[in-house]
Amino acid sequence: MTLKVRPLSPTIGAEIIGMDPREPLNQNSVEFLRKVWLEFGVVFIRGYKLTDAQHASLCSNLGKIQAERTAPESESESHPGMLFVSNFKENAILPGGEMWFHSDQCYFETPVSATSLYAIEIPSSGGHTIFCDCSEAYQDLSEELKSRLEGKLAMNVYDYQSNNRYFKSEERTVGAPEAPHPVVRTHPETGRKSLFINRLMTDCILGIEERESREILEFLFDHMEKEQYLYDHKWKPCDLSIWDNRCTLHARTNYDLAERRLLRRYAVEGDKPY
Ligand SMILES: [Fe+2]
Repeated sequence: MTLKVRPLSPTIGAEIIGMDPREPLNQNSVEFLRKVWLEFGVVFIRGYKLTDAQHASLCSNLGKIQAERTAPESESESHPGMLFVSNFKENAILPGGEMWFHSDQCYFETPVSATSLYAIEIPSSGGHTIFCDCSEAYQDLSEELKSRLEGKLAMNVYDYQSNNRYFKSEERTVGAPEAPHPVVRTHPETGRKSLFINRLMTDCILGIEERESREILEFLFDHMEKEQYLYDHKWKPCDLSIWDNRCTLHARTNYDLAERRLLRRYAVEGDKPY
């Protein structure tokens, strides 16, 4: 079957049509998947019932499956690297409603390069994933701001009690994972620059006054979260997504926790941002 791409928004996200992820992909299909992933930031393949192993096999076309580091107790014993995101399933992660924009594991030295979610049960409304194109958002900044951000590092922290820039470091949970990364990251495969900060986990820009850091971050978060850089995905069961975690952010909208939401997650190992 001929492989086709259907863009999902003017800037970010595309659906691949004609690719059956239940079978191992041939080399042509693997190259196609990688190309669309790199070009559109988020790939969807829809309508196929996928087992744990089929899902893992598809993701491994983009690299080595990342063993779980944040919640290793939630990782599947039979399928390393597999977790469930759910509000009802035992051992699942991230059971709550709304989540602010973030990139996965930016609080580690080597954040994952790709994250994949596969929808199993979806509430009747809400619980969308909104994706943000951080390359386009960077391109549209003024030259003055781009040069101000050049070479700057930001501290990213995993601490959902005090996970944003309004809290000082002494108020953080002791031992919360954190990592400094460039505010502007260069993509290791495409060479494109993008903003690598986010409202949920970026605490401050290092080496400048706290007030200035807050002002710049607030401006950048508002800028990145403008409609023109976003794709709002309303999940259906059997939707599979793989996003490029190096140049996109994602957020979750609220939903009624009385309804069931269950997605399966795998991630792919990444490099140290530069
Ligand atoms: Fe996430």
